[in-house]
Amino acid sequence: MDIEVSPALSPGITPPQRIELGDLLLRRWAPADLIPRFEAITASFDHLHQWMDWAAHPITLEQQREFDAAMGASWPSASGSFNYGIFDTAGTVLGAIGIHDRVGPRMLEIGYWCHVDHTGRGVITRSAAELTRIALHLPGVDHVEIHCDAANTRSAAVAERLGYRLERIAPRPKLAPAESGQGMWWVKTAR
Ligand SMILES: CC(C)(COP(=O)(O)OP(=O)(O)OC[C@H]1O[C@@H](n2cnc3c(N)ncnc32)[C@H](O)[C@@H]1OP(=O)(O)O)[C@@H](O)C(=O)NCCC(=O)NCCS
Repeated sequence: MDIEVSPALSPGITPPQRIELGDLLLRRWAPADLIPRFEAITASFDHLHQWMDWAAHPITLEQQREFDAAMGASWPSASGSFNYGIFDTAGTVLGAIGIHDRVGPRMLEIGYWCHVDHTGRGVITRSAAELTRIALHLPGVDHVEIHCDAANTRSAAVAERLGYRLERIAPRPKLAPAESGQGMWWVKTAR
């Protein structure tokens, strides 16, 4: 059963829907991104499958339509997520990143994945750095967290590279094949 947590953000307080970051563009997913996102996930399936619970099986267009429906017309989604696509200047989907208001008062969580062809060049590190900065400037927020499995060294390296502090390692459900069942909670504070 999900534990209900109080949101960190008051109604109407949101991060921007579009963030220009040099040669990267982070923007709220649009309905027209359905096929490019589906193709990016499909191309990256083996890599995502190891770590992402939602990639337990090859994804279908129908599931991606459901993701669009769940994001809905609201910003954030009904579940409190601000989901962005990450694009290059040609409009290619490089990955995805989200701010999730689901970890409790004064705290937001950031999650991400990268297209397998675009890893290793800082796309996620740069995007997460900017979203961390933005999140920590939102009224009512003084902590941002990144959660990953302890075996997910690439994800942990992003948090560490950005100056997040490893607050704890503790058991958590193993939801994807490469996970160890030990979770890492990385935290960055406003001061
Ligand atoms: C986790 C994941 C997003 C990390 O991707 P990544 O490619 O390692 O991260 P980045 O895109 O930030 O790339 C970092 C690399 O770019 C380099 N880099 C190059 N230019 C850079 C720049 N301007 N800024 C920062 N890093 C830069 C870094 O030095 C680092 O190099 P390294 O691979 O030699 O250590 C990716 O492995 C992934 O999608 N995994 C599957 C999904 C997943 O696990 N998601 C997280 C769940 S918790």
